[in-house]
Amino acid sequence: MAAKIVRSLTRLSVVAALMFFATSFVQTDLPGMGTVRALAQTTGDVPGNWSGNISDTQFWRAIRKGVTGSVSIPDKKAGQLVQSDGDELRAFRQGPMSQFGGWLLIGSLIVLGLFYVGRGRIQVEAGLSGRTIERFNAFERFVHWLTASSFIILALTGLNMLYGKYVLPSIIGKSAFASLTMFGKFAHDWIAWAFILGIILMFFSWVRHNIPNMTDVRWILAGGGMFSAGVHPPAKRFNAGQKIIFWLVIVGGASLSGSGLALLFPFEIEMFAATFKVINQLGTNFPTELSPIQETQYALMWHGVIALVMIAIIIAHIYIGSLGMEGAFDAVGTGQVDINWANEHHNLWVQEMETMDENAAAPNRGTE
Ligand code: HEM
Repeated sequence: MAAKIVRSLTRLSVVAALMFFATSFVQTDLPGMGTVRALAQTTGDVPGNWSGNISDTQFWRAIRKGVTGSVSIPDKKAGQLVQSDGDELRAFRQGPMSQFGGWLLIGSLIVLGLFYVGRGRIQVEAGLSGRTIERFNAFERFVHWLTASSFIILALTGLNMLYGKYVLPSIIGKSAFASLTMFGKFAHDWIAWAFILGIILMFFSWVRHNIPNMTDVRWILAGGGMFSAGVHPPAKRFNAGQKIIFWLVIVGGASLSGSGLALLFPFEIEMFAATFKVINQLGTNFPTELSPIQETQYALMWHGVIALVMIAIIIAHIYIGSLGMEGAFDAVGTGQVDINWANEHHNLWVQEMETMDENAAAPNRGTE
């Protein structure tokens, strides 16, 4: 029995000594010391009589600042006891990001409200003719609504993650808010895949109509005819304003998807250090060595910022596609738009369609 106790105590002391060694040094860049193996100050008799080369204060400050020590287990992230960048991320997310994001969203609603008051609903000036032309086929409409409905759910559940805690608990109660946020988070993680698919399909469906050309320059110089009645600058299938929206959706959507995937698979997808290396060719000085946790933190920050900008853009898009312009919604609703609407907003496209129809009908006419 006594021998058993002695054996157990011996084992325990070996483990304790190993733990002591594991926690009493860190490999670090301390000011003025270069990269050193920093030994904690110790008192009394310790194996080897080490007395350390830095004070306890320096040692623990280094740990508090996020220094990474060495560990023998496979998960090297465990070598970092305190990751202080998390504080900065949190301060940024709760502070400037939430504040500016909030102002951006409220600001865009105010600007659209003012635009509506000043300009009113943009009417089909020649009046509705009752004759229609197909604007988007069923597949294009499916792609539009796949992207749009998934984006709207992602936006609402994402906004809840950022702002919900300030507003909802006092309205619906804490436990309802907790359930809502939990299901919202599941929805956000899964519906993201539908959005990614929507963005890919949208790109391939419409990219050929969204290559900029000189017609777009003239459209922009005429303000797109948005600010005064009776002005209808020529446009093909998509005008310059729509092309800008298209590319913002594609580039912003790809960016949201990339950073979102990095958040869904943390520590597996790392893209920021590599991106910073490329950007630094332009003379900037972004960090090019990032720990896996820093990569994830950059992804979270970027995802939030781009999402807020995208939501502001899409609010404007939804306004002009529904309340702001008579006849526009039909394009993504039934797919058929009034020919007068089409002539006022996309006259070159109508001409193209009519020429194609005539060419297609020509052989028949020849036989009449
Ligand atoms: C309730 C929500 C939405 C409405 C009412 C709406 C309405 C419309 C309409 C009417 C068009 C066709 C315009 C035309 O025929 O010239 C359109 C096109 C388009 N929509 Fe939406 N949309 C909505 C949400 C979204 C969302 C969330 C996205 C992307 C995240 C999106 C991306 C696009 C793109 C890229 C186009 C083609 C370019 C353009 O017309 O601006 N839409 N949408």
